Amino acid sequence: MKLLITGGAGFVGSHLCDRYVKNGDTVVCLDNFMNGSLTNVRHLLGYRNFKLINGDIRDYDLLEKIMRDVDAVIHLAAQIHVDRSIIEPRLTYEVNVLGTQNVLEVARVYDVDKVVHASTSEVYGSAQYAPMDENHPLNAPHPYGASKIAADRMCYAYIETYGMNVCIMRPFNLYGPRQKDSGYGGALSIFTKRAMGGLPPVIYGSGLQTRDYTYVDDIVEAYDLVVKYPNPLREPINFGTGVDVSIIDLAHKIIGLCGKDLTPVHVEERPGEVQRLVADISKARKLGWEPKYSIDEGLKKFIEWYRNYKVEEWAKPR
Ligand SMILES: NC(=O)c1ccc[n+]([C@@H]2O[C@H](COP(=O)([O-])OP(=O)(O)OC[C@H]3O[C@@H](n4cnc5c(N)ncnc54)[C@H](O)[C@@H]3O)[C@@H](O)[C@H]2O)c1
Repeated sequence: MKLLITGGAGFVGSHLCDRYVKNGDTVVCLDNFMNGSLTNVRHLLGYRNFKLINGDIRDYDLLEKIMRDVDAVIHLAAQIHVDRSIIEPRLTYEVNVLGTQNVLEVARVYDVDKVVHASTSEVYGSAQYAPMDENHPLNAPHPYGASKIAADRMCYAYIETYGMNVCIMRPFNLYGPRQKDSGYGGALSIFTKRAMGGLPPVIYGSGLQTRDYTYVDDIVEAYDLVVKYPNPLREPINFGTGVDVSIIDLAHKIIGLCGKDLTPVHVEERPGEVQRLVADISKARKLGWEPKYSIDEGLKKFIEWYRNYKVEEWAKPR
């Protein structure tokens, strides 16, 4: 199999590159390093079946050059941060909507067998009922979610109009090794970095808002299942654990696992913050997927990685 992984030098993308390079598939990793890092994929550079392209999904001509002979595209490249989307809504739209349209259009022109599109649970907005299935209304209150809704609709349009084989993955909050722990990183990684350094987690608002945290190894299995699924899956599919945890509980779990004595600090709530997200994963289960990691198991594994490997890995000279 020859795969194009857009956003392949990012958090999730680099784990997928690992999976397929080690499997012996040919992987083309396209990333413009807006949020990704060479450190995430440097160890793959010596493999003959791995090619790294520093480029942009907004560059249609480039996509035409690299998508001619691929069997499948896993499309992850996106501006992923809610807070950045509030500051830069246009950039978010250009990357997440127009970039996705480019990927779909070139896939159509070159008859690519399968496109697996990374949507997100953020398209739903706060839960109107729980757990949230794929029919939950799409009420994202922020530009990031809105851009992902638009990208999803574009996927539907290519499915309906051209009969393309596009699957819309809706992972709930992901975490694990290589997730950014600074700037607009994931809360879980940032809390861990702060706790390890003896600093208290900073919580926006009450901390009673909840998320369904999914460990990266589980989502890699989910992508692999969908990529290899023998029949077309032309629909959105949720991937989560089905259990939500409040941000305040998450902060205390992390403080405990880091072995610190810290009290979380509360600051003003962020605009457009979603209050509750929890997945109904019945559809994914029917395909044979089951998450292996509860939040406690995943956090333990993540913090162990953070403690033992992170410093050495990131300290390697560039
Ligand atoms: N992390 C999560 O909790 C989560 C949850 C649900 C869905 N998702 C989706 O999964 C995908 C991957 O998320 P992630 O957490 O690995 O994020 P990430 O930011 O680590 O990965 C995205 C990658 O895309 C690259 N990129 C951004 N704009 C680009 C462009 N114009 N051209 C080429 N590359 C570009 C970035 O440099 C980055 O390496 C995203 O589409 C995201 O919306 C993530």
